Amino acid sequence: MALHVVDHPIAHDLLLSLRDKATPSDTFRQLARRLSLVLTLEATRDLETRSTTVETPLGPANGTRVATEVVVVPVLRAGLGMLDAVLELLPRAKVGHIGLQRDEETAVASKYYAKFPVGLASARVLMIDPMLATGGSAVFALDLLRDAGARDIRLLCIVASPEGVKTVEAAYPGVHIYTPVVDAYLNAKKFIVPGLGDFGDRLYGT
Ligand code: PRP
Ligand code: URA
Repeated sequence: MALHVVDHPIAHDLLLSLRDKATPSDTFRQLARRLSLVLTLEATRDLETRSTTVETPLGPANGTRVATEVVVVPVLRAGLGMLDAVLELLPRAKVGHIGLQRDEETAVASKYYAKFPVGLASARVLMIDPMLATGGSAVFALDLLRDAGARDIRLLCIVASPEGVKTVEAAYPGVHIYTPVVDAYLNAKKFIVPGLGDFGDRLYGT
């Protein structure tokens, strides 16, 4: 299955506070970061490792290190709210950026920026965008990543819609999606219901 619903009580607790319209931007940012930590752990569960040994004060201890290069790609601007969490867990990850803006009337995304580090083809790519609504932005971003050579891509979101999941699955069946929830539907303005509103606006107080 390409869809991973991260059914964790802490994720659901954090999500409910994110949904609450009374949550102010400073708290919203903290909650988004915490929930992104949970999603990152799930999306990296199968990373390749290599065996190694360290010396504890009492002698040698065998263990493993992460052996896969990771590239994290936030979709601006809302995806920036998830970036610190990924970098906290994977401090050596490289960062690419994709700037997309959904038209307020048509909900169609257009690009204003894209820049990727080298080595996408051999990396685990974590594309982070908290809202998967129509799926138009996600497919646009995935097209850019595919054209730049990325092959192993995971999409981390905070709220998904059934339509968004279907659209991504149809265009990119090999891309795994990690989300704590798939909400009910999209409204006439293509916002997720019940959702949490405009993630970027709530993150930055715009
Ligand atoms: C939001 C969100 C996604 C997109 C999802 O971004 O962060 O990128 O909408 O909608 P879709 O699935 O229907 O394409 P937005 O374009 O509002 O820009 P922002 O991040 O700058 O607020
Ligand atoms: N973008 C958002 O920020 N929220 C939605 O519900 C849909 C797109």
